Amino acid sequence: MMNLYRLIYSSYAKPDLGYHDLKDIMEKSERNNQSDGITGLLCYGDSIFLQILEGDRKIVSKTYHRIALDTRHHTPELIECIPIESRLFGIWSMKAVNFSNLNSQEVRNLILKYSTSTTLQPHTMTSQQCLNLMQALVTVYDKAASF
Ligand SMILES: Cc1cc2nc3c(=O)[nH]c(=O)nc-3n(C[C@H](O)[C@H](O)[C@H](O)COP(=O)(O)O)c2cc1C
Repeated sequence: MMNLYRLIYSSYAKPDLGYHDLKDIMEKSERNNQSDGITGLLCYGDSIFLQILEGDRKIVSKTYHRIALDTRHHTPELIECIPIESRLFGIWSMKAVNFSNLNSQEVRNLILKYSTSTTLQPHTMTSQQCLNLMQALVTVYDKAASF
């Protein structure tokens, strides 16, 4: 029995997180998620991670608990974990959206559209706002380079 679920969480990056860390996270995510049937999106900016995992509930749960133990971030907050009819990010084993070195007005406007500030603060946002923001960010980043 397969249960298709979507999990959204946010966390705080460790203070000295660098490009090498992001590269390593993406390499491992792409490899593991591909074989686990997990798809999703990982946003990074303002020293915050916001991630969506889609896939079988048991495997999503296992993956989330493994990620939560990773010392490259801390204090994960679960935002949503619900059954879904279909995937929103099904073409990516894990798509990266990194705006840490980018002061794009387009990105800042999108964050402001779905929250009360221009910096990424998922803990102040509803799960629907997080989802809408991530869907909007991915369209901007489909046009540009990611990590
Ligand atoms: C913010 C963040 C997101 C991550 N996302 C994933 C992911 O989607 N899938 C995954 O397998 N590992 C992810 N990782 C990495 C895991 O914590 C862990 O390092 C990795 O799964 C171990 O892979 P390995 O056993 O193949 O070395 C993430 C780590 C961080 C810090």
